[in-house]
Formats: sequence, C-alpha cells, structure tokens
Amino acid sequence: MTVNNTISQISPVMSTYGRFPVTLVKGKGSYVWDDNGTKFLDFTSGIATCNLGHIPDVIKEKVEEQLQNLWHCSNLYHIPNQEQLAAMLVENSCGDQVFFCNSGAEANEAGIKLARRYANKVKGTGSPVVVTFQQSFHGRTIATLTATGQEKIQQGFSPLAPGFHYLPYNDTNALDELIELKPAAVLLELVQGEGGVIPANSDWVKKLDLLCKQHDILLMVDEIQTGIGRTGTLFAYEQFGIEPDVISIAKGLGSGFPIGAMIAKEKAAKGFEPGSHGSTFGGNPLATAAGLATITYMVESDTLENANTMSEYLDQQLQHMKNTFTFIKEIRGKGLLKGLVVELDALNIVQKAIGNNLLILTAGPNVIRILPPLTVTKEEIDEFTKSLEKTFQSIEKGE
Ligand SMILES: Cc1ncc(COP(=O)(O)O)c(C=O)c1O
Repeated sequence: MTVNNTISQISPVMSTYGRFPVTLVKGKGSYVWDDNGTKFLDFTSGIATCNLGHIPDVIKEKVEEQLQNLWHCSNLYHIPNQEQLAAMLVENSCGDQVFFCNSGAEANEAGIKLARRYANKVKGTGSPVVVTFQQSFHGRTIATLTATGQEKIQQGFSPLAPGFHYLPYNDTNALDELIELKPAAVLLELVQGEGGVIPANSDWVKKLDLLCKQHDILLMVDEIQTGIGRTGTLFAYEQFGIEPDVISIAKGLGSGFPIGAMIAKEKAAKGFEPGSHGSTFGGNPLATAAGLATITYMVESDTLENANTMSEYLDQQLQHMKNTFTFIKEIRGKGLLKGLVVELDALNIVQKAIGNNLLILTAGPNVIRILPPLTVTKEEIDEFTKSLEKTFQSIEKGE
C-alpha cells in the first residue's frame, strides 16, 4: 500500500482545540492518570462535567444495568428513564416540562427555538429578538455562537443568525433598552463561566426578572456550567430569588455521559407541539440512565452540603494565596466554580501546573478557573493548594 507522506503527518483529528501535551487514559474520583501512569489531581472536572468525580460508582451501576437492556430507541416510543428524569427535573426546579438533547449548545438552541415559537405562535409578535449579554458563552452552533457575546467566537462565521441583540452584563441602566427592544426572550448565565467567572449581580438579576414579567419576555437561564450543583445549589437561579421560564442544562447532568436538557415552564413550553423540534439521540435510554442516577444521587446525598463546605474551605486557601502572591488580584465565583484573576498569563500558569500534577483551566487571558468535583475532600484541596503554590513560586523565580 502506498502511504501519502503529507497526509500521514497530519493529525486525523480536526484542529479545533489547542491541546495540552497530556494523554488521559483513566479516572477515578478527583484523579486522572495519563498513558505513562502519572497521576494528576483534576480540578477541571472535564470542564464542570464530572461533578460527582470520575466514574462515580452509583452512576456506573445504573449505566451498566441499562447497558444490559436497551441502549437506544427512538423518541417515537416512551422511554421510562427519560420520563423519570424529566419528572425529577420538574420536581426539583421551577419548570414544568423537559426536552432532552445531547449537549449544552443543543439545549440553548432548543431554548432559542422555543422563544421564537412562543413569540410567533403564542404572543403573535413579528421578528422575535433574543437579548443576550456581552462576554457570555452559549455554544458553538450558528445560533448559539451568535447568542454568545464574544466576537472571537463569531469571527469568520458570517452570516450569523439574525435576531440577537447584546446588552452589557450587570448594567442596570442598560436595561432601559430592553423594553424598547420588545424581545421574545432574554438569555443569560448567572455566573459567566467561559467569559471570566463573573457572577451576576443579584439586584440586577431581580430587576431583569421584574422587567421580563412586566413585558411578557421569557427569562431563560443558561445553567450549562452553573447547574447540577456546581454553584452550591442544584441550579444557580435558586440563589437569586427568581423563577426562570427556561433553564438549559448539560455538562454535569450525565456525570460525563453526553446529555443536555431544556426545562421550561408550561407557559413557554406551549410553544412546541409534536413535530416542532426533535433529536435522534436526545434522552435515549442510556443517556437518561446516567442523568437519572446523577440527579437522584445529587438530591438524595449530601453532595451539595459538601460542595458548600468545601467551597468555603477553598476560598480560605485562595485568600491565603492572594495575601502571599501580589499578582493575584481577585477571587470570584460561586460554589465550586471559582476564578482567580491574575496579572499574569493564565494559560502559562495552567501549563506549568501540569508539571506539578495539577489540572486547572483558564477563563480568558487573565483568569484561572478552578472546578473541583463537588465530592472533593479537604485533603484534596490541601494537595491542590500545595501544587498551585509551588507553581506560583516557580513562576515568581522566573523558572
Ligand atoms: C454556559 C455555557 N453554555 C453553553 C455551553 C456549550 O455547551 P456544549 O459544549 O456542551 O455544547 C457551555 C460550554 O462550555 C457553557 O459553559
């Protein structure tokens, strides 16, 4: 067989990620191992996905059980796991009905479609607009990258989807424009994750909620990163005293198994009818087995309590680091979604931390994002502190 040398040198995986030089092959709890057997403390949780740590036994059991019975069947038939998971999500949120899909972008896409249908068919208004916020991140499909308030995500993808308008985040004065725009919906993150771990201001969210109610605008929260306990409650909105009309979730919902969902109040859900939206894989028996086991465990165990206790302990450690290293300017976030604002290149810190067996993330050029599993222990946080301090010390020495 002739081998084409030029082609053989090109990675068969398309170049959409700048990857670290690490190949992970195994995970358990808060740890992962590479192909040389090196152990790393994983404070990324697969980017807020393995919220119960890697391969949690309770989820593994339920997925293995489902593996013996039925992996997939079409949504043309009833799927018991899907129905039970929907019921659990409804019982533990302010929503009434759930649409299942496979990822965060698809959950937001479903929310955007629902908002348009709601405006066109229920409210009867023309050309419905969805308002989103600067620095937001909502996904990589054409509609969700258009919803994303960051030019770098949109570059080169024109024509973008019509019908989106951006307002500054946490800016109460800018909300006057909202009423003039008469949008179908507002879509926001309650902590902007990818945009730099920026929590929403509580008064601003309350004002936004009030305006949405007064002007029949759907309030849609993107809880893809903040949901499933990441910020200390099952959903972040619970901490803001609001009841959104639409909630999008994914990441932590399947403990690493791909699944997304869009939860809506009945008022908004009326926008959809059989045929308006769908997904081949969405909510299949295997994915919803993982989702059902995850939500059941999350509400029945003391995981959220642990997340809150560990969040406080981690804050103390980060505060201590801030007092020691002058280049740390701010600690922000909610629950176990933490950001360290640094006057250094955050990516360089993340790269150097790998050498100290620690995996962490960036959120923009100057923010280190720290996402331990919600099951993290005090000892693991101590180990994290040691590794990160060692990393900072070597950077200070110019190593
Ligand atoms: C807030 C938010 N929305 C949407 C998405 C997109 O999710 P996915 O990558 O599963 O499509 C992400 C992913 O990072 C996110 O953090």
